[in-house]
Amino acid sequence: ELSPIDKAKFVAAKRASDLVEDGMRVGLGTGSTAAWLVRCLGERVREEGLRFRGVPTSTRTAELAREVGITVISLDEARWLDVTIDGADEFDGNFNLIKGGGGALLQEKIVATASDQMVVIADAAKRVEHLGAFPLPVEVIPFGWPTTQALIEEMLVSMDVMGRNSTLRMTGDAPYVTDEGNHILDLHLGRIGDPRQLSLVLNQIPGVVENGLFVDICDTVIVGFGDGRIELRD
Ligand code: A5P
Repeated sequence: ELSPIDKAKFVAAKRASDLVEDGMRVGLGTGSTAAWLVRCLGERVREEGLRFRGVPTSTRTAELAREVGITVISLDEARWLDVTIDGADEFDGNFNLIKGGGGALLQEKIVATASDQMVVIADAAKRVEHLGAFPLPVEVIPFGWPTTQALIEEMLVSMDVMGRNSTLRMTGDAPYVTDEGNHILDLHLGRIGDPRQLSLVLNQIPGVVENGLFVDICDTVIVGFGDGRIELRD
């Protein structure tokens, strides 16, 4: 028996898995909701003989996809994708997102941008009026990261945000390392007034590789509820 939150994630993922058709190239997201999607797709491969190729957005997702019998190819091989299905940490009424709670934002953003469509699957608790209560992940090059952090905090003074503290993400005693060998700064902003502007300005700072704001990338959100209902918004 699933908890309400897992049920919500599962029903959203299940609905999204029905969007995949024979011959498609599909971006596979990262995180607990995306893991449900990968399992649902694996089931369709085994039970219906669905034939599609998946491009994973992390080593974790790649492992799970192979385990459940999905044909995995790299983005280099696929080049362009029909659809990417992924979770999110927050989404607003314009389908702008915060992603990267699971640390895979860079590959997730590259893969989603290479797709004709991006579908987000999320439980209802992730819907927000304004992005920013969830700390915004920013992927930075390890070289000189404290300098990069100071530059980011300085820049935030002039932006339409509430807070400007940031913390280096850790795994135990060591800085967290992404699939691309970088670190992550989590920005505690509270409220982001202009996600597009903030995203552009962050990416201008040397040492910043990419940030977790997805602006104008997501086309559809499938929201799951604890009682098993879903809402598809596009
Ligand atoms: C991974 O880097 C993230 O962008 C995830 O998509 C996000 O954290 C959502 O994760 P859950 O589905 O586990 O909430």
